[in-house]
Amino acid sequence: MSNETTPEEAAPGQDLESLRNPQPLYKMMRDLAPVVHMERGNMGSTIVAKHEDVLTVLRTPEIFSSNAEAVKIGQIRPLIPLQIDPPDHAKYRKLLDPLFAPKRIAGLEERTRLLVNGFIDEVIDAKKANFHLSVAEPLPSMVFLELLGLPVSRAKEFIALKDGIIRPVASDEAGRLVKVNEVGAKIYAVLSEVVEARILEPKNDFISSFLTSEVDGERLTPDEVIDICYLFFLAGLDTVTASLDCFIAYLAQNEDKRQSLIARPELIPAAIEELLRWESPVTGVARIAIQDTELSGCPIKKGTLVAPILGSANTDESFWERANEVDFERETNKHLAFGGGVHRCLGSHLARMELRVTLEEWHRRIPNYQLANGIALRYSQGLRQVENLELVW
Ligand code: HEM
Repeated sequence: MSNETTPEEAAPGQDLESLRNPQPLYKMMRDLAPVVHMERGNMGSTIVAKHEDVLTVLRTPEIFSSNAEAVKIGQIRPLIPLQIDPPDHAKYRKLLDPLFAPKRIAGLEERTRLLVNGFIDEVIDAKKANFHLSVAEPLPSMVFLELLGLPVSRAKEFIALKDGIIRPVASDEAGRLVKVNEVGAKIYAVLSEVVEARILEPKNDFISSFLTSEVDGERLTPDEVIDICYLFFLAGLDTVTASLDCFIAYLAQNEDKRQSLIARPELIPAAIEELLRWESPVTGVARIAIQDTELSGCPIKKGTLVAPILGSANTDESFWERANEVDFERETNKHLAFGGGVHRCLGSHLARMELRVTLEEWHRRIPNYQLANGIALRYSQGLRQVENLELVW
């Protein structure tokens, strides 16, 4: 199978260049239609492009709810904490935040470094690899399954289930819903099985600790534990994969930037923040208006889906100085790549650690790499993964 693609092979409506370099499209949206309602079949949504408006949506959950109507991904109950609005949302974050705090995450660094080096060992002598398949996809899955306490031996099955939700093969929204509901039922079955096993025999993992955790003096029910794990399953895997793909693709094509990281590895943490801003691997999030409202003069009716475009907010010249310059030494970088407001990413410290360790180890051992000859990178929509990231060194 060829790794190259031509515009003719792109999915309908998919503009390959805009998927690869979305920043000019974001600018056009901000200039021409900063808040716009788009009809799409029987589904429609209001797209929000300016930094100021994106922030308003994220910070006003009493108008722009993140409830289970905003995104349908096979769930039969609201996913915790993403689909719980304040005030109940806070009690779950109070429980979950300490588990993902920097100190807890630091304890995973050594194991993560070992895993990354294992993946590098497998490809280094060949002097070529598909980075997506060899590192970006397996790494977060291994880290996450071990952390959560899901059997690593079943990693392939879990990845297939997750892909069935995030990339269902369907021609329209009704078909998509049928597919994700089918896969969702399988995820619930797997999680119920593991949760029941941990109730009988606790282990040293997150699922066991959730089962004995209390929120406001009450224990989480097994269903609540399943609803947390279902979300983790989807939120913790593809996002890190997409970020690693975007970063390595950028560095393979920007020699001067890559050389600066090789010469000064201490720049890596700031480079990660800047690449999160510039690439915005999660391009946008979803909300639903739960009352009639307006944004920048555009009326929004109760029940409308609202899509704040994080990538556009992250490159908005009215907020950022030198918005179009990628600068690994930017002094402050309050990007929205992890979202904002109450639902800001729970896993940001875990994600940053995985990204940093991977960039450190990869550049230490394979500093000079480039795209394989003739490769036209294919970025996926929504979550910007690059499945044909073929490198040579
Ligand atoms: C670079 C990688 C990551 C990116 C770019 C990212 C991005 C995001 C974004 C944009 C949101 C906000 C969603 C919204 O407002 O609708 C979010 C929320 C969330 N993320 Fe991440 N994420 C990443 C990694 C992770 C990881 C590794 C985990 C593992 C647990 C995780 C767990 C979550 C959870 C649980 C939420 C919901 C938080 C809440 O509703 O309070 N994320 N993430």
